[in-house]
Amino acid sequence: MDSIRLRSLPRLFLALLLFFVSFGYATAQGEQPAAGEVGTSKNPSEAGVTPGGVAAAAPAAAAGTTTGDPAAIAAGDALFKSNCAQCHAVHEVVVGPALAGVSKKHNMPWLISWIKNSSKMVASGDAEAVKIFNEYQKQQMPSFQLSDAEITSIIAYVDAETAKPAGTPTGLTADSGGNTVVDGTAAANGDSGSAMNILLIVLVVVLIVLVVTLVIIANIMKDVLRGRKDLDGRDREQIEERFDYSRIYKSTAVRGIVGTVFVLAVLYETIQGAMGVGLSQGYQPTQPIAFSHKLHAGENQINCAYCHTSVYKGKSANIPSPNICMNCHSQIKTESPEIKKIYRAIERKQPIQWVRIHNIPDLAYFNHSQHTQVAGLECQTCHGPIENMEVVYQYSALTMGWCINCHRETPLNTKGNGYYDNLVKLHDSKNGAVPFTVSSNGGTECSKCHY
Ligand code: HEC
Ligand code: HEC
Ligand code: HEC
Ligand code: HEC
Ligand code: HEC
Ligand code: HEC
Repeated sequence: MDSIRLRSLPRLFLALLLFFVSFGYATAQGEQPAAGEVGTSKNPSEAGVTPGGVAAAAPAAAAGTTTGDPAAIAAGDALFKSNCAQCHAVHEVVVGPALAGVSKKHNMPWLISWIKNSSKMVASGDAEAVKIFNEYQKQQMPSFQLSDAEITSIIAYVDAETAKPAGTPTGLTADSGGNTVVDGTAAANGDSGSAMNILLIVLVVVLIVLVVTLVIIANIMKDVLRGRKDLDGRDREQIEERFDYSRIYKSTAVRGIVGTVFVLAVLYETIQGAMGVGLSQGYQPTQPIAFSHKLHAGENQINCAYCHTSVYKGKSANIPSPNICMNCHSQIKTESPEIKKIYRAIERKQPIQWVRIHNIPDLAYFNHSQHTQVAGLECQTCHGPIENMEVVYQYSALTMGWCINCHRETPLNTKGNGYYDNLVKLHDSKNGAVPFTVSSNGGTECSKCHY
């Protein structure tokens, strides 16, 4: 009877070990920031089940908000990071104000209409709106096409973060709008990661205590049994038997499990790697001169085309030559070490080695003047808030899907252009309900972008 219990002890160890190893692996997988998973691709529903989301819910409830639903907070977290984080943080002023306590400052309907269209509210003369607009040097916050529910979840997330003490690392840097997009994901991963780590440490401690207790019990039982006179030879053999560890390696079950886990891990890495090939959203290299778009295009309001002279005329937007810098820097900041780099480049007749950020492969054709001059698109639609970037980063994905989506959705500007009159008439007579978009005009045909 006793010897049977003793024999099952090593098996219990083995079972615990296996459980622990597989649990540990599953956790490590969950934490892994995938290569292609930058910026917006974070799945909100996935985040909803991480302990990070649950942990955030608790303080929100404590703060007395009604919207402490962890799923809403997690969704709000993802929305905040993809839409708001380049200008806002919860506890510190970035471009816009710190958002801590904003739900106490304004009521929900106000917040919803503000986020949907702040300039409309300022124009309507709403006292609160005008006040905050003036406080922030009349900078305009962009409009967002978010649903009421999405905005509510963003505010729920802000409330949950408000309840946390200031100074908790958010991964967002206030100095450069550029970093926020990249770091946003890191922070999201880090939040759930650290909760997982705590859970893991607790588990390890519990497990060690358990193992030590079991070893002590086993030894006590052995001692008791050795003292007994009524055992025959076979029972004694069993008591003294050592556990044969090589049996673990030889076991087919263990080999099978280890093999499967290994194959799955390799497969996962390969797929993630393949999905991310050629994607460089968020790419933000360090440039040879600390040139700031925030300072030049933002604060000093220099027109983009003053430097990128060909952007309305040609296929490519050029990068300005040092001579353009000299129009101003022959007088301005002449003693600055960064400006001296420009002088040195001119003296040596060597161009400044700017690192290229945006680059679509040669197999596709993209033309700036078609989009800026003909379509009248703003640079910011594709390049994001450049005028707030200390260091430029790639804001859009620049994938084929990204080009095509916009061509499907954007109505073509056909007014006052005789070339389109017959085409539009033809289109309206067939399906007048849908607007005449770029794709109605063949903008999604392969040959427009590939030849
Ligand atoms: C391009 C920068 C930018 C982005 C992106 C942005 N905001 Fe703003 N936000 C501002 C600025 C600047 C202000 C200050 C008011 C003004 O000047 O219009 C502001 C003000 C606000 C206010 C009022 C704060 C107060 O203290 O009264 C709220 C609320 C707000 N933003 C929420 C959001 C949310 C939510 C998002 C994301 C969906 C967002 N903002 C995205 C720039 C931005
Ligand atoms: C004073 C000159 C100047 C002005 C004004 C300026 N830029 Fe630039 N821009 C540069 C220089 C120099 C670079 C290359 C260094 C860098 O990437 O920061 C650059 C780089 C860029 C890039 C990245 C190019 C790449 O490598 O892919 C984009 C996009 C861009 N500018 C857009 C804009 C937009 C949009 C505006 C207007 C809001 C603007 N620029 C205004 C000088 C200027
Ligand atoms: C239209 C005028 C104008 C042009 C063109 C211009 N800058 Fe500037 N630049 C400024 C002004 C204004 C400042 C801010 C000076 C200050 O802070 O007092 C500045 C500041 C800078 C600084 C920060 C210097 C420091 O140490 O604080 C750098 C670096 C710089 N510019 C680089 C460039 C480069 C590179 C180009 C060419 C691609 C360029 N600038 C073109 C007007 C210009
Ligand atoms: C429809 C989207 C779109 C708009 C609008 C747009 N760009 Fe671009 N921009 C791109 C793409 C795509 C590239 C990469 C082009 C390539 O690799 O050939 C790019 C590249 C650039 C570059 C790097 C040099 C080059 O041509 O490859 C600069 C600088 C730039 N854009 C500036 C601007 C400025 C300034 C404006 C506004 C006047 C603007 N862009 C408007 C999509 C856009
Ligand atoms: C933000 C919206 C937007 C994005 C993003 C965009 N485009 Fe466009 N594109 C337009 C619009 C609007 C037009 C129509 C211009 C006109 O009136 O002819 C257009 C026209 C074109 C045309 C000419 C089509 C024709 O019928 O002659 C080509 C080619 C093109 N785009 C390529 C691209 C490529 C390649 C990308 C991605 C790298 C891209 N576009 C991304 C809005 C966009
Ligand atoms: C509006 C412009 C546009 C149209 C229309 C378009 N493409 Fe593309 N395509 C692109 C761009 C930009 C890339 C490069 C994307 C990247 O680097 O991820 C690309 C990449 C590709 C690639 C390379 C694989 C890849 O994902 O990098 C293939 C193959 C391709 N396109 C086929 C097609 C076919 C087939 C059609 C017609 C059904 C088509 N494209 C229509 C813009 C377009």
